[in-house]
Amino acid sequence: MDKIRIRGGKPLRGTIPIGGAKNAALPLMTASLLTEGTLTLANLPHLADITTLANLLAQHGVDLRMDGHSPNGGHTGRVLSLTAKRISNTTAPYDLVRKMRASILVLGPLLARAGKARVSLPGGCAIGTRPVDLHLKGLQQLGARIELKEGYIDAEAPNGLSGAEIVFPSVSVGATENLLMAATLAGGETVLANAAREPEVTDLAVCLQAMGARIEGVGSDTLRIQGARSLSGTRHDIVPDRIEAGTYAMAAAIAGGEVELAGARPELMHAALEIIRQAGATVTPTKSGIMIRRIAGALRGTDVMTEPFPGFPTDLQAQIMALLTTAEGASMITETIFENRFMHVPELRRMGANINLHGASAMVRGVPRLTGAPVMATDLRASVSLVLAGLVAEGETLVNRVYHLDRGYERLEEKLAACGAEIERVKEAAA
Ligand code: UD1
Repeated sequence: MDKIRIRGGKPLRGTIPIGGAKNAALPLMTASLLTEGTLTLANLPHLADITTLANLLAQHGVDLRMDGHSPNGGHTGRVLSLTAKRISNTTAPYDLVRKMRASILVLGPLLARAGKARVSLPGGCAIGTRPVDLHLKGLQQLGARIELKEGYIDAEAPNGLSGAEIVFPSVSVGATENLLMAATLAGGETVLANAAREPEVTDLAVCLQAMGARIEGVGSDTLRIQGARSLSGTRHDIVPDRIEAGTYAMAAAIAGGEVELAGARPELMHAALEIIRQAGATVTPTKSGIMIRRIAGALRGTDVMTEPFPGFPTDLQAQIMALLTTAEGASMITETIFENRFMHVPELRRMGANINLHGASAMVRGVPRLTGAPVMATDLRASVSLVLAGLVAEGETLVNRVYHLDRGYERLEEKLAACGAEIERVKEAAA
Protein backbone atom coordinates (compact mmCIF):
# COMPACT_ATOMS: atom_id res chain seq x y z
CA MET A 1 0.00 0.00 0.00
CA ASP A 2 1.32 3.46 -0.89
CA LYS A 3 2.37 5.97 1.75
CA ILE A 4 2.82 9.72 1.73
CA ARG A 5 6.06 11.16 3.06
CA ILE A 6 6.19 14.81 4.13
CA ARG A 7 9.01 16.93 5.51
CA GLY A 8 7.38 19.83 7.31
CA GLY A 9 8.28 23.49 7.53
CA LYS A 10 7.90 24.71 3.93
CA PRO A 11 5.42 27.56 3.29
CA LEU A 12 3.04 27.09 0.36
CA ARG A 13 3.02 29.46 -2.61
CA GLY A 14 1.11 29.02 -5.85
CA THR A 15 -2.21 27.97 -7.31
CA ILE A 16 -4.18 24.82 -6.56
CA PRO A 17 -6.93 23.79 -9.02
CA ILE A 18 -10.12 22.63 -7.30
CA GLY A 19 -11.92 19.67 -8.89
CA GLY A 20 -15.59 18.73 -9.12
CA ALA A 21 -17.22 17.72 -5.84
CA LYS A 22 -17.08 14.00 -5.06
CA ASN A 23 -20.24 14.27 -2.96
CA ALA A 24 -22.11 15.88 -5.86
CA ALA A 25 -20.70 13.51 -8.49
CA LEU A 26 -21.87 10.35 -6.69
CA PRO A 27 -25.61 11.20 -6.48
CA LEU A 28 -25.48 12.75 -9.97
CA MET A 29 -24.12 9.49 -11.38
CA THR A 30 -26.96 7.53 -9.75
CA ALA A 31 -29.47 9.99 -11.29
CA SER A 32 -28.59 8.39 -14.64
CA LEU A 33 -30.73 5.41 -13.54
CA LEU A 34 -33.82 7.65 -13.76
CA THR A 35 -33.76 8.04 -17.53
CA GLU A 36 -33.33 6.16 -20.80
CA GLY A 37 -31.50 9.22 -22.10
CA THR A 38 -27.81 10.02 -21.76
CA LEU A 39 -26.65 12.01 -18.76
CA THR A 40 -23.31 13.69 -19.41
CA LEU A 41 -21.40 14.90 -16.37
CA ALA A 42 -18.52 17.32 -16.87
CA ASN A 43 -15.88 18.33 -14.30
CA LEU A 44 -15.88 14.79 -12.90
CA PRO A 45 -13.07 14.21 -10.38
CA HIS A 46 -10.75 11.23 -10.86
CA LEU A 47 -11.22 9.37 -7.54
CA ALA A 48 -11.47 5.82 -6.26
CA ASP A 49 -15.07 6.38 -5.03
CA ILE A 50 -16.15 7.40 -8.53
CA THR A 51 -14.69 4.17 -9.96
CA THR A 52 -16.46 2.11 -7.27
CA LEU A 53 -19.82 3.66 -8.16
CA ALA A 54 -19.15 3.34 -11.90
CA ASN A 55 -18.65 -0.42 -11.40
CA LEU A 56 -21.90 -0.66 -9.44
CA LEU A 57 -23.87 1.26 -12.09
CA ALA A 58 -22.36 -0.85 -14.89
CA GLN A 59 -23.73 -4.00 -13.31
CA HIS A 60 -27.22 -2.39 -13.14
CA GLY A 61 -26.99 -2.01 -16.95
CA VAL A 62 -25.71 1.55 -17.27
CA ASP A 63 -23.45 2.14 -20.25
CA LEU A 64 -20.59 4.44 -19.15
CA ARG A 65 -18.28 6.32 -21.48
CA MET A 66 -15.45 8.62 -20.57
CA ASP A 67 -15.70 11.36 -23.20
CA GLY A 68 -12.44 13.19 -22.56
CA HIS A 69 -11.70 16.28 -20.56
CA SER A 70 -13.25 19.64 -19.82
CA PRO A 71 -11.44 22.81 -18.70
CA ASN A 72 -11.36 23.22 -14.93
CA GLY A 73 -9.46 26.12 -13.38
CA GLY A 74 -6.39 25.55 -15.51
CA HIS A 75 -6.62 21.80 -15.09
CA THR A 76 -8.86 19.23 -16.69
CA GLY A 77 -11.86 17.47 -15.22
CA ARG A 78 -13.24 14.42 -16.92
CA VAL A 79 -16.46 14.09 -18.87
CA LEU A 80 -18.54 10.97 -18.25
CA SER A 81 -21.63 9.95 -20.20
CA LEU A 82 -24.02 7.50 -18.57
CA THR A 83 -26.89 5.82 -20.41
CA ALA A 84 -29.34 3.49 -18.66
CA LYS A 85 -31.45 2.45 -21.67
CA ARG A 86 -32.65 -0.57 -19.75
CA ILE A 87 -32.09 -1.55 -16.11
CA SER A 88 -30.79 -5.10 -16.50
CA ASN A 89 -30.29 -5.91 -12.82
CA THR A 90 -31.85 -4.33 -9.73
CA THR A 91 -29.53 -5.89 -7.13
CA ALA A 92 -26.66 -3.91 -5.58
CA PRO A 93 -24.48 -6.66 -4.11
CA TYR A 94 -22.68 -6.59 -0.77
CA ASP A 95 -19.24 -6.81 -2.38
CA LEU A 96 -19.69 -3.45 -4.10
CA VAL A 97 -21.86 -1.66 -1.51
CA ARG A 98 -19.52 -2.41 1.39
CA LYS A 99 -16.73 -0.48 -0.36
CA MET A 100 -18.71 2.74 -0.23
CA ARG A 101 -21.80 3.75 1.73
CA ALA A 102 -22.94 6.19 -0.94
CA SER A 103 -23.97 3.11 -2.99
CA ILE A 104 -27.26 3.36 -1.05
CA LEU A 105 -28.08 6.21 -3.46
CA VAL A 106 -29.04 3.68 -6.16
CA LEU A 107 -32.02 2.59 -4.04
CA GLY A 108 -34.39 5.50 -4.76
CA PRO A 109 -33.68 5.72 -8.51
CA LEU A 110 -33.89 1.92 -9.07
CA LEU A 111 -37.16 1.68 -7.18
CA ALA A 112 -38.67 4.66 -8.99
CA ARG A 113 -37.66 3.51 -12.48
CA ALA A 114 -37.79 -0.31 -12.23
CA GLY A 115 -40.36 -0.76 -9.45
CA LYS A 116 -37.99 -2.85 -7.38
CA ALA A 117 -34.52 -2.84 -5.87
CA ARG A 118 -32.43 -5.11 -3.72
CA VAL A 119 -29.56 -3.23 -2.11
CA SER A 120 -27.12 -4.59 0.45
CA LEU A 121 -27.33 -2.81 3.81
CA PRO A 122 -24.19 -0.68 3.99
CA GLY A 123 -23.45 -1.58 7.61
CA GLY A 124 -21.32 0.44 10.02
CA CYS A 125 -18.31 2.47 9.09
CA ALA A 126 -15.34 4.10 10.73
CA ILE A 127 -17.15 7.31 11.67
CA GLY A 128 -20.21 5.81 13.31
CA THR A 129 -23.14 3.47 12.89
CA ARG A 130 -24.65 5.61 10.10
CA PRO A 131 -28.07 3.99 9.79
CA VAL A 132 -30.26 4.30 6.66
CA ASP A 133 -33.61 4.40 8.47
CA LEU A 134 -34.49 7.86 7.11
CA HIS A 135 -34.01 6.63 3.53
CA LEU A 136 -36.22 3.59 4.15
CA LYS A 137 -39.01 5.39 6.04
CA GLY A 138 -39.19 8.04 3.34
CA LEU A 139 -39.49 5.46 0.56
CA GLN A 140 -42.19 3.63 2.53
CA GLN A 141 -44.10 6.92 2.74
CA LEU A 142 -43.91 7.03 -1.08
CA GLY A 143 -45.63 3.62 -1.06
CA ALA A 144 -42.69 1.22 -1.28
CA ARG A 145 -42.87 -2.14 0.49
CA ILE A 146 -39.59 -2.71 2.24
CA GLU A 147 -38.25 -5.79 3.97
CA LEU A 148 -34.83 -6.38 5.46
CA LYS A 149 -33.67 -9.91 4.58
CA GLU A 150 -30.26 -11.55 4.87
CA GLY A 151 -28.41 -8.25 5.05
CA TYR A 152 -30.30 -6.79 2.09
CA ILE A 153 -32.93 -4.09 1.68
CA ASP A 154 -35.68 -5.64 -0.45
CA ALA A 155 -37.84 -2.87 -1.84
CA GLU A 156 -40.83 -3.08 -4.16
CA ALA A 157 -43.29 -0.70 -5.73
CA PRO A 158 -44.92 -2.74 -8.50
CA ASN A 159 -47.47 -0.03 -9.28
CA GLY A 160 -44.98 2.81 -8.98
CA LEU A 161 -44.34 5.26 -6.16
CA SER A 162 -46.85 7.93 -5.21
CA GLY A 163 -46.14 11.39 -3.84
CA ALA A 164 -46.37 12.13 -0.12
CA GLU A 165 -45.39 14.73 2.44
CA ILE A 166 -42.19 13.64 4.19
CA VAL A 167 -40.88 15.53 7.19
CA PHE A 168 -37.35 14.39 8.02
CA PRO A 169 -36.90 14.19 11.81
CA SER A 170 -33.23 15.16 11.34
CA VAL A 171 -31.23 16.49 8.42
CA SER A 172 -29.68 13.84 6.17
CA VAL A 173 -27.87 14.61 2.94
CA GLY A 174 -28.16 11.09 1.55
CA ALA A 175 -31.82 10.57 2.51
CA THR A 176 -32.74 13.92 0.94
CA GLU A 177 -30.96 12.93 -2.29
CA ASN A 178 -32.49 9.43 -2.44
CA LEU A 179 -36.01 10.75 -1.81
CA LEU A 180 -35.60 13.66 -4.20
CA MET A 181 -34.59 11.31 -7.01
CA ALA A 182 -37.37 8.83 -6.23
CA ALA A 183 -39.97 11.63 -6.10
CA THR A 184 -39.15 12.86 -9.62
CA LEU A 185 -40.79 9.68 -11.01
CA ALA A 186 -43.51 9.24 -8.32
CA GLY A 187 -47.16 9.98 -9.13
CA GLY A 188 -48.34 13.42 -7.95
CA GLU A 189 -46.69 15.81 -5.52
CA THR A 190 -44.01 15.06 -2.94
CA VAL A 191 -42.93 17.54 -0.28
CA LEU A 192 -39.59 17.00 1.47
CA ALA A 193 -39.48 19.11 4.65
CA ASN A 194 -36.37 19.62 6.81
CA ALA A 195 -34.41 18.63 3.72
CA ALA A 196 -30.62 18.99 3.58
CA ARG A 197 -29.50 22.23 1.91
CA GLU A 198 -25.92 21.20 1.14
CA PRO A 199 -24.67 22.62 -2.19
CA GLU A 200 -24.31 19.05 -3.47
CA VAL A 201 -28.06 18.47 -2.93
CA THR A 202 -28.74 21.70 -4.81
CA ASP A 203 -26.42 20.61 -7.64
CA LEU A 204 -28.39 17.37 -7.93
CA ALA A 205 -31.72 19.26 -7.95
CA VAL A 206 -30.49 21.61 -10.69
CA CYS A 207 -29.41 18.66 -12.83
CA LEU A 208 -32.75 16.89 -12.26
CA GLN A 209 -34.55 20.07 -13.34
CA ALA A 210 -32.51 20.05 -16.55
CA MET A 211 -33.62 16.41 -17.02
CA GLY A 212 -37.23 17.63 -16.91
CA ALA A 213 -38.08 17.21 -13.22
CA ARG A 214 -40.34 19.84 -11.68
CA ILE A 215 -38.83 20.88 -8.35
CA GLU A 216 -39.57 24.02 -6.34
CA GLY A 217 -37.64 25.35 -3.37
CA VAL A 218 -34.20 24.34 -4.64
CA GLY A 219 -31.56 25.50 -2.13
CA SER A 220 -34.12 25.71 0.72
CA ASP A 221 -35.09 23.17 3.38
CA THR A 222 -38.43 22.44 1.70
CA LEU A 223 -38.42 20.78 -1.71
CA ARG A 224 -41.70 20.40 -3.62
CA ILE A 225 -41.59 17.90 -6.47
CA GLN A 226 -44.25 17.18 -9.11
CA GLY A 227 -43.60 13.66 -10.35
CA ALA A 228 -43.15 13.05 -14.08
CA ARG A 229 -43.71 9.91 -16.20
CA SER A 230 -40.17 10.03 -17.49
CA LEU A 231 -37.08 12.20 -17.47
CA SER A 232 -34.65 12.91 -20.28
CA GLY A 233 -30.87 13.11 -20.50
CA THR A 234 -28.89 16.33 -20.16
CA ARG A 235 -25.37 17.68 -19.74
CA HIS A 236 -24.34 19.04 -16.36
CA ASP A 237 -21.19 20.64 -14.91
CA ILE A 238 -20.45 19.31 -11.42
CA VAL A 239 -20.14 21.99 -8.72
CA PRO A 240 -16.55 22.58 -7.43
CA ASP A 241 -15.58 20.63 -4.32
CA ARG A 242 -15.96 22.93 -1.29
CA ILE A 243 -14.38 20.28 0.98
CA GLU A 244 -11.30 19.93 -1.21
CA ALA A 245 -11.07 23.75 -1.37
CA GLY A 246 -11.52 24.06 2.41
CA THR A 247 -8.81 21.44 2.98
CA TYR A 248 -6.26 23.34 0.87
CA ALA A 249 -7.32 26.63 2.47
CA MET A 250 -6.43 25.10 5.82
CA ALA A 251 -3.18 23.71 4.38
CA ALA A 252 -2.17 27.24 3.35
CA ALA A 253 -3.17 28.65 6.74
CA ILE A 254 -1.27 26.03 8.73
CA ALA A 255 1.90 26.01 6.56
CA GLY A 256 1.88 29.77 5.94
CA GLY A 257 2.38 31.43 2.53
CA GLU A 258 -0.05 32.40 -0.17
CA VAL A 259 -2.22 30.03 -2.19
CA GLU A 260 -4.95 30.68 -4.73
CA LEU A 261 -7.67 28.04 -4.91
CA ALA A 262 -8.64 28.18 -8.58
CA GLY A 263 -12.28 27.36 -9.23
CA ALA A 264 -13.31 27.45 -5.54
CA ARG A 265 -16.68 29.12 -4.85
CA PRO A 266 -16.49 31.31 -1.68
CA GLU A 267 -20.28 31.59 -1.44
CA LEU A 268 -20.47 27.84 -0.73
CA MET A 269 -17.88 28.05 2.05
CA HIS A 270 -18.88 30.95 4.31
CA ALA A 271 -18.68 29.10 7.62
CA ALA A 272 -15.30 27.48 6.91
CA LEU A 273 -13.75 30.67 5.52
CA GLU A 274 -14.96 32.63 8.55
CA ILE A 275 -13.24 30.17 10.92
CA ILE A 276 -10.02 30.35 8.85
CA ARG A 277 -10.16 34.17 9.18
CA GLN A 278 -10.74 33.95 12.92
CA ALA A 279 -7.73 31.64 13.14
CA GLY A 280 -5.54 34.38 11.64
CA ALA A 281 -5.33 33.88 7.85
CA THR A 282 -6.49 36.39 5.23
CA VAL A 283 -9.19 35.19 2.87
CA THR A 284 -9.82 37.18 -0.33
CA PRO A 285 -12.15 36.26 -3.18
CA THR A 286 -10.36 36.56 -6.54
CA LYS A 287 -11.57 36.47 -10.15
CA SER A 288 -10.99 32.76 -10.43
CA GLY A 289 -11.43 31.56 -6.85
CA ILE A 290 -10.12 32.38 -3.38
CA MET A 291 -6.73 33.59 -2.12
CA ILE A 292 -5.58 32.37 1.30
CA ARG A 293 -2.65 34.19 2.86
CA ARG A 294 -0.73 33.97 6.11
CA ILE A 295 2.63 35.64 5.79
CA ALA A 296 3.43 36.68 9.34
CA GLY A 297 1.70 36.28 12.66
CA ALA A 298 0.70 33.22 14.63
CA LEU A 299 -2.50 31.24 14.29
CA ARG A 300 -5.11 31.92 16.99
CA GLY A 301 -7.38 29.45 18.74
CA THR A 302 -11.11 29.57 17.98
CA ASP A 303 -14.19 27.46 18.70
CA VAL A 304 -15.85 25.35 16.00
CA MET A 305 -19.10 23.41 15.92
CA THR A 306 -20.05 21.17 12.98
CA GLU A 307 -23.57 21.63 11.64
CA PRO A 308 -25.59 20.89 8.51
CA PHE A 309 -25.10 23.45 5.71
CA PRO A 310 -24.77 26.44 5.92
CA GLY A 311 -22.92 25.61 9.16
CA PHE A 312 -19.34 24.40 9.44
CA PRO A 313 -19.08 21.01 7.62
CA THR A 314 -18.23 17.85 9.50
CA ASP A 315 -16.07 16.90 6.50
CA LEU A 316 -13.65 19.72 7.48
CA GLN A 317 -13.60 19.00 11.22
CA ALA A 318 -10.43 16.88 11.24
CA GLN A 319 -8.59 19.42 9.06
CA ILE A 320 -9.48 22.42 11.25
CA MET A 321 -8.38 20.43 14.29
CA ALA A 322 -4.94 19.86 12.70
CA LEU A 323 -4.73 23.61 12.11
CA LEU A 324 -5.73 24.56 15.64
CA THR A 325 -3.16 22.21 17.23
CA THR A 326 -0.49 24.86 16.55
CA ALA A 327 -2.66 27.95 17.24
CA GLU A 328 -2.09 30.18 20.25
CA GLY A 329 -4.60 29.53 23.02
CA ALA A 330 -7.36 26.97 23.39
CA SER A 331 -10.03 25.85 20.91
CA MET A 332 -13.16 23.82 21.52
CA ILE A 333 -14.26 21.67 18.57
CA THR A 334 -17.71 20.10 18.84
CA GLU A 335 -18.89 17.39 16.43
CA THR A 336 -22.68 17.27 16.16
CA ILE A 337 -23.17 15.17 13.00
CA PHE A 338 -21.30 11.89 13.58
CA GLU A 339 -20.80 10.22 16.96
CA ASN A 340 -17.35 8.78 16.36
CA ARG A 341 -15.45 11.21 14.23
CA PHE A 342 -12.34 11.81 16.31
CA MET A 343 -10.08 8.98 15.07
CA HIS A 344 -7.48 11.55 14.08
CA VAL A 345 -7.07 12.65 17.71
CA PRO A 346 -4.73 9.86 18.91
CA GLU A 347 -2.61 10.23 15.77
CA LEU A 348 -2.36 14.03 16.12
CA ARG A 349 -1.37 13.46 19.75
CA ARG A 350 1.45 11.19 18.57
CA MET A 351 2.72 14.20 16.63
CA GLY A 352 2.78 16.27 19.83
CA ALA A 353 -0.70 17.85 19.79
CA ASN A 354 -2.42 18.58 23.10
CA ILE A 355 -6.04 17.44 22.68
CA ASN A 356 -8.53 16.21 25.27
CA LEU A 357 -11.82 14.60 24.36
CA HIS A 358 -14.99 15.23 26.37
CA GLY A 359 -17.86 13.37 24.68
CA ALA A 360 -18.64 15.12 21.41
CA SER A 361 -16.14 17.91 22.07
CA ALA A 362 -12.38 18.13 21.73
CA MET A 363 -10.41 20.70 23.70
CA VAL A 364 -7.32 21.63 21.71
CA ARG A 365 -4.58 23.56 23.48
CA GLY A 366 -2.14 24.99 20.97
CA VAL A 367 1.48 23.80 21.12
CA PRO A 368 4.47 25.71 19.64
CA ARG A 369 5.40 22.83 17.34
CA LEU A 370 4.40 19.37 16.13
CA THR A 371 6.93 16.65 15.40
CA GLY A 372 6.81 14.23 12.47
CA ALA A 373 5.85 10.61 13.08
CA PRO A 374 4.56 7.57 11.21
CA VAL A 375 0.75 7.86 11.40
CA MET A 376 -2.36 6.36 9.86
CA ALA A 377 -6.06 7.01 9.87
CA THR A 378 -9.15 5.03 9.13
CA ASP A 379 -11.12 7.53 7.11
CA LEU A 380 -10.67 10.00 4.32
CA ARG A 381 -10.84 13.32 6.18
CA ALA A 382 -8.90 12.03 9.19
CA SER A 383 -6.10 10.96 6.82
CA VAL A 384 -5.86 14.34 5.16
CA SER A 385 -5.74 16.08 8.57
CA LEU A 386 -2.52 14.13 9.23
CA VAL A 387 -1.08 15.40 5.94
CA LEU A 388 -1.88 18.97 7.04
CA ALA A 389 -0.22 18.39 10.40
CA GLY A 390 2.80 16.95 8.55
CA LEU A 391 3.17 20.21 6.58
CA VAL A 392 4.20 22.06 9.76
CA ALA A 393 5.68 19.23 11.83
CA GLU A 394 9.42 19.18 12.43
CA GLY A 395 11.04 16.28 10.62
CA GLU A 396 9.37 13.52 8.63
CA THR A 397 5.77 12.38 8.73
CA LEU A 398 4.82 9.15 6.97
CA VAL A 399 1.07 8.78 6.40
CA ASN A 400 0.05 5.15 5.94
CA ARG A 401 -3.07 3.75 4.28
CA VAL A 402 -3.08 6.30 1.50
CA TYR A 403 -6.01 4.56 -0.21
CA HIS A 404 -8.29 6.55 2.09
CA LEU A 405 -6.90 9.77 0.58
CA ASP A 406 -7.34 8.44 -2.94
CA ARG A 407 -11.07 8.05 -2.28
CA GLY A 408 -11.52 11.81 -2.07
CA TYR A 409 -8.42 13.80 -3.11
CA GLU A 410 -7.18 13.84 -6.68
CA ARG A 411 -3.38 14.15 -7.00
CA LEU A 412 -3.06 15.54 -3.47
CA GLU A 413 0.72 15.23 -3.28
CA GLU A 414 1.20 16.79 -6.74
CA LYS A 415 -1.01 19.76 -5.90
CA LEU A 416 0.82 20.45 -2.62
CA ALA A 417 4.28 19.82 -4.10
CA ALA A 418 3.56 22.30 -6.90
CA CYS A 419 3.16 24.95 -4.16
CA GLY A 420 6.50 24.10 -2.56
CA ALA A 421 5.59 21.42 -0.01
CA GLU A 422 8.16 18.66 0.44
CA ILE A 423 5.76 15.77 -0.09
CA GLU A 424 5.92 12.58 -2.11
CA ARG A 425 4.08 9.33 -2.60
CA VAL A 426 6.14 6.31 -1.68
CA LYS A 427 5.19 3.16 -3.54
CA GLU A 428 4.93 0.14 -1.28
CA ALA A 429 8.02 -1.61 -2.61
CA ALA A 430 10.16 1.46 -1.93
CA ALA A 431 8.57 2.43 1.40
C1 UD1 B 1 -22.99 12.84 3.38
C2 UD1 B 1 -21.60 12.98 2.80
C3 UD1 B 1 -20.55 12.92 3.91
C4 UD1 B 1 -20.87 13.97 4.97
C5 UD1 B 1 -22.30 13.84 5.45
C6 UD1 B 1 -22.71 14.97 6.40
C7 UD1 B 1 -21.84 12.00 0.62
C8 UD1 B 1 -21.52 10.88 -0.32
N1 UD1 B 1 -21.38 11.90 1.86
O1 UD1 B 1 -23.06 11.55 4.00
O2 UD1 B 1 -19.27 13.17 3.33
O3 UD1 B 1 -19.99 13.79 6.07
O4 UD1 B 1 -23.21 13.88 4.34
O5 UD1 B 1 -22.54 16.20 5.78
O6 UD1 B 1 -22.48 12.98 0.23
N2 UD1 B 1 -28.59 9.38 9.68
C9 UD1 B 1 -29.54 8.60 10.30
N3 UD1 B 1 -30.38 7.86 9.51
C10 UD1 B 1 -30.32 7.89 8.16
C11 UD1 B 1 -29.37 8.71 7.53
C12 UD1 B 1 -28.51 9.44 8.32
O7 UD1 B 1 -29.61 8.55 11.52
O8 UD1 B 1 -31.13 7.20 7.50
C13 UD1 B 1 -27.66 10.18 10.51
C14 UD1 B 1 -26.20 9.80 10.28
O9 UD1 B 1 -25.81 8.69 11.05
C15 UD1 B 1 -25.49 11.07 10.68
C16 UD1 B 1 -26.47 12.17 10.25
O10 UD1 B 1 -27.73 11.52 10.11
O11 UD1 B 1 -25.35 11.11 12.08
C17 UD1 B 1 -26.10 12.85 8.95
O12 UD1 B 1 -25.85 11.90 7.95
P1 UD1 B 1 -26.13 12.15 6.41
O13 UD1 B 1 -26.34 13.61 6.18
O14 UD1 B 1 -27.17 11.21 5.94
O15 UD1 B 1 -24.73 11.73 5.78
P2 UD1 B 1 -24.47 10.94 4.42
O16 UD1 B 1 -25.48 11.31 3.41
O17 UD1 B 1 -24.24 9.51 4.73
